[in-house]
Amino acid sequence: MSSQPPPEVMVRIAKPEDARVCAEICYSAFSTINQRHGFPPDFPGPEATLGALSTKFSHPGFYCVVAEAGGRILGSNCLDERSPVAGVGPITIVPDSQNRGVGRKLMVAVMGRARERAAAGVRLVQAAFHNRSLSLYASLGFDVREPLSCMQGRTRQRDVPGCTVRAANLPDVDHCAGLSLQVHGFQRGRELAEAIQHGTARVVERMGRITGYASALAFFGHAAAETNTDLQALIASADSFGGPGILVPSRNSALFQWCLAQGLRVVQPMTLMSLGLYNDPAGAWLPSILF
Ligand SMILES: CC(C)(COP(=O)(O)OP(=O)(O)OC[C@H]1O[C@@H](n2cnc3c(N)ncnc32)[C@H](O)[C@@H]1OP(=O)(O)O)[C@@H](O)C(=O)NCCC(=O)NCCS
Repeated sequence: MSSQPPPEVMVRIAKPEDARVCAEICYSAFSTINQRHGFPPDFPGPEATLGALSTKFSHPGFYCVVAEAGGRILGSNCLDERSPVAGVGPITIVPDSQNRGVGRKLMVAVMGRARERAAAGVRLVQAAFHNRSLSLYASLGFDVREPLSCMQGRTRQRDVPGCTVRAANLPDVDHCAGLSLQVHGFQRGRELAEAIQHGTARVVERMGRITGYASALAFFGHAAAETNTDLQALIASADSFGGPGILVPSRNSALFQWCLAQGLRVVQPMTLMSLGLYNDPAGAWLPSILF
């Protein structure tokens, strides 16, 4: 009796019509692993997951791939190409096919794409409890850069003296891009302009000038500022944070301790990892779930 060899796993570019199957996989992959470790899922439900993947699969600023074997989609991965540094995620594999090399293939595909496009670097954020994703990324060459605390809640103090927070407008983009350049060595203007169009971006002004911005006070948003005070004003201006929470660099003790004193709660520890260009940030910042 000869048994059939398992079908070969192929990686191809994701099509918008793949989003529904990939969203089901994404939701079940995150819920399964997070639940096993007692953490809330990254996405609130299947519909929100579908919305996020549908947007990425048809967005010209994202390169998305699926892994398929014998006509069955096993998982997907996306690369955010809107900035000089590319961001990976979400990467998810259907639970019954995990730990068999599919995730590695999807990572190799987006890393190859980043190389072709001469991205200055590639970054991602992983759940610190997840041994497999940590090992996979590290073995592909990613360095652990920053422990993060995903935090949720509402600060007791609702504003910071001397700081004014307002909605960001398109004319603010250049100045904010300059702030990101100052803090990280690269700008994220395109991402910010899209966030302004979606109505989620804010800036903080101090002494008559913009001293910080957030594309969103959310899991999917990033922020850069001259000082912790500017970041505190942005954080204090939010009634709640979108998704599981904001990602606070845990080594920024002054900011982390201020968040705790303000009543924010740690939801889960996470880790920022990078490949290629990485400058130690010079200023205050919050990464998004991508970087
Ligand atoms: C994380 C995920 C995408 C990885 O995909 P996968 O197909 O399961 O992973 P792979 O089999 O390609 O690679 C896993 C690697 O980690 C290694 N590994 C797993 N557990 C390990 C451990 N505890 N210590 C060391 N290495 C470990 C495996 O041996 C394998 O390495 P190899 O390729 O050298 O053999 C997938 O498991 C998943 O969808 N998880 C749930 C959702 C999620 O967490 N996504 C990531 C968000 S950052």
